[in-house]
Amino acid sequence: MPAEPTQTAPKSWTIGSLVKWATDDFRARGIESPRLDAELIVAHTLKIDRMRVILDAERPLEGVELAQLRDLVKRRRAYEPIAYLRGEREFYGLKFRVDKRVLVPRPDTETLVDAALARSSHLSMSMRQLDLCTGSGCVAIAMARQRPTAQVFASDISTDALAVARDNALRLGAYNTAFFESDLYAAFAGKRFDVITANPPYIASAEIPTLMPDVRDHEPKLALDGGEDGLVLVRRIVTDATAHLEPGGLLAVEIGAGEAPATVLLLEAGGFVDVRVHRDIARIERVVTGVVG
Ligand SMILES: C[S@@+](CC[C@H](N)C(=O)[O-])C[C@H]1O[C@@H](n2cnc3c(N)ncnc32)[C@H](O)[C@@H]1O
Repeated sequence: MPAEPTQTAPKSWTIGSLVKWATDDFRARGIESPRLDAELIVAHTLKIDRMRVILDAERPLEGVELAQLRDLVKRRRAYEPIAYLRGEREFYGLKFRVDKRVLVPRPDTETLVDAALARSSHLSMSMRQLDLCTGSGCVAIAMARQRPTAQVFASDISTDALAVARDNALRLGAYNTAFFESDLYAAFAGKRFDVITANPPYIASAEIPTLMPDVRDHEPKLALDGGEDGLVLVRRIVTDATAHLEPGGLLAVEIGAGEAPATVLLLEAGGFVDVRVHRDIARIERVVTGVVG
């Protein structure tokens, strides 16, 4: 393995040689997309786009740039998600600020937004939505931006996550959102909504140690652990949903691979009708929706 880039030998490092060195290093550590990650780190540090990283491969790196790059490469070597390094992640066409206080928004979760939008398109302009387990606020904010006249309430049990979500809502101009600290529905006693969305933690506790180190060692445990069978929060969300939905209201819940059949049964037993399963871009059953009967 080549020596690490240092401030003392800046002339020997160019954008291209740094990208190659980091790519080889990441690949040796089993990181999934080594070249992409190396390019993203360089692009972020030098404040250029990825195309420039390729076009300007011969450009020498300055000492201060090398120091910043070394720091980010070190963090990625320790499997910190690239989204935390860059401090942002795109979701539903919007750039969300993210850090270790929140789960990194996943493309799979766009299926939750798509399903909730599609199945609530007939609702009035003033529809009221509750997004449980909001984390970075990605679902609530994406929905609020698509439905500017809706009122979107969002909650999370984590004070830290809510700080990130509120900041994202302000920066992204989602002024029709409001955020509450709450254990699921606790802060909404007696309140009813037209739509409830949720992407709760849904990984079985025993599976957590087997996850990729990026997720297991860096993303909040509170965002991952769904209890003994993974469905502890899903069960609570579905069971209490009818008490918080208007007649004809919609529930849309994201779940893990293999959890759809049990979740469909939960919705049907809870009095939901027209229960549907929605697949994500990888064709995995990812979201279950149902309407209050
Ligand atoms: C899987 S993350 C989803 C975050 C975000 N909605 C997304 O899709 O990226 C789950 C979130 O649920 C929150 N959470 C965990 N237990 C909770 C509870 N009992 N009540 C409310 N939120 C909870 C966590 O803090 C975390 O932010």
